[in-house]
Amino acid sequence: MKKQRTLTGITTTGTPHLGNYAGAIRPAIQAIGDESKSFYFLADYHGIIKCHEPERIHQSTLEIAATWLACGLDPDKAHFYRQSDIPEVMELTWILNCLCTKGLMNRSHAYKAAVADNEEKGQADLDHGITMGLFSYPILMSADILMFNAHKVPVGKDQIQHIEMARDIAQKFNHTFGEVFTLPEAVISEETELLQGLDGRKMSKSYNNTIPLFESEKRLRKLIMKIKTNSQEPGEPKNTDDSTLYQLYKAFASTDEVAEIAKCYAEGIAWGEMKQILFEKINAEIAPMREKYNELIAEPKKIEAILLLGAEKLRPMSQALLAEVRHAVGIRKLG
Ligand code: TRP
Repeated sequence: MKKQRTLTGITTTGTPHLGNYAGAIRPAIQAIGDESKSFYFLADYHGIIKCHEPERIHQSTLEIAATWLACGLDPDKAHFYRQSDIPEVMELTWILNCLCTKGLMNRSHAYKAAVADNEEKGQADLDHGITMGLFSYPILMSADILMFNAHKVPVGKDQIQHIEMARDIAQKFNHTFGEVFTLPEAVISEETELLQGLDGRKMSKSYNNTIPLFESEKRLRKLIMKIKTNSQEPGEPKNTDDSTLYQLYKAFASTDEVAEIAKCYAEGIAWGEMKQILFEKINAEIAPMREKYNELIAEPKKIEAILLLGAEKLRPMSQALLAEVRHAVGIRKLG
């Protein structure tokens, strides 16, 4: 079987947390083979859709890049780049804009959620405050994916619709202008969805319940001590099913270790003790990466050079694809 290209983007608006790590970063890095078939990029043009704080975009770009490198991404084995360093993505976005119907975008969850929000607030204009960037963001995402003819796109469940839209748009292009694009497929990792935050809800920036990945050891311990538990006393047998601590432990421990802890639950382990065990487990995995992260973040120039090199290596590919697309739609040399 021919090797499949995997591509995914990370929006540059936040600070990576444990959920991002266990659900997306760690599996992505583990999946990297030797043949540069993996594409991981910082989606900074996606970042500015909702975030109009330049410092935050800038800082988040640095933090996310440093995180991936600290977690072991080897830029010689995977394509690692910043969306805005590949200008062909923007050109392709326009061409796809001219193909994608407005009706398709009307159905986008992100847009519909914004409309519903206006409705709830009693806004007379249901499009109030909705930018064209938000409205058409699945088209930019399609350009990201189709640019490198990705087969597989690992994403969270909330993004499945966008991959389907990219497929629709690719199909329409191929049908209208000839076969150019590979049809992408979403890959959903169940783990991605499961990690819970401090309050037991899904770990997410929007719930403000995250454990940032590279907090200091002290802060990490403090946050873990804050995780919500029920009020069962030490010695009372405890249920693993509804335990955030157990679930987090599972994301970091081996099968044997998890079985061992399940036994401790049945025997009534105290929450405080479980928190300490969980802290040690997570910290053991994170500590060496934290050290690398702190080194990297202190040298933004180095990271900048890595990203620029990543884009430089890719541009022959994006330029060739764009040339093909332009030719296909009739934007050609006159003689
Ligand atoms: N929109 C995605 C998110 O919010 C990020 C993203 C941008 C992306 N472009 C992409 C993901 C292309 C996969 C492929 O999570």
